[in-house]
Amino acid sequence: MLASRLPVFDRFITDLRAIWSADGDDGRRMANAKPLLEKLVMDPKLKARSASWPSTEGRKNLLLYVDPDYHFVINAVVRVPGRTGSIHDHADAWVLYGVLDGTESLERFDRIDDGSRPGYAEVKLASVTTGSQGKVDLVPPRAIHAEQGGPTRSVAIIVRSQKLGEGTVLQHRYDREANTVVEQFGPTQIPYELA
Ligand SMILES: [Fe+2]
Repeated sequence: MLASRLPVFDRFITDLRAIWSADGDDGRRMANAKPLLEKLVMDPKLKARSASWPSTEGRKNLLLYVDPDYHFVINAVVRVPGRTGSIHDHADAWVLYGVLDGTESLERFDRIDDGSRPGYAEVKLASVTTGSQGKVDLVPPRAIHAEQGGPTRSVAIIVRSQKLGEGTVLQHRYDREANTVVEQFGPTQIPYELA
C-alpha cells in the first residue's frame, strides 16, 4: 500500500482485498463490501477532502484505485447541482454506489419490450430512492438505472467489480422518449490520487 494514501482509504482497500481473496463470487464480494462502503462514506475527513475534488461533468469518473490482483476499481463522481443522469446499465460489472456528500436519487427501470427489435427498447420507471451521505446502492450486472443529482453539488464513491470506460466493456444506454438503446463505453477515467 502507498504510504502517502489517505489512511481511511488505505484501510478500505486492504479490507476489500481481504474480501476478494476469501471468495471468488462477485455478487457475494459486493454484498460483503457494502457495509465497508457505508462506513467509508460516513468518514468526516473523506467528506471534507472531497470538497476540492474536480467536477466529473461530461461523462467522466475520477479513477481513485485499480486493484492490481483482483481488478476491482474505486471511482468517484462529482455532480453539479440538478444534474440529469442518463438511463444505462453497467454490462457485466457489479457496482456499489455510495453517496458521500449532497443528495442523489437512484432510479430503477424495467425493460418492458421483448428485446427482439435491434436498437429498440421500452423502459418503464420502477422505483426511485433518494439518499444522502451514507446511502449505498448495490447495482447488479445489466440492471437498468439512472443516477440523478440533487439540488446541491454531490459526490459519490463507486466500487466496481471491473474497470469500465473507453476500450473496456460496452454498456447499454437507453432513451426513454425515443425508445432506443445503443451500446457505448462508460465514462472517461481520470486518474486521481487520494493522498
Ligand atoms: Fe450507473
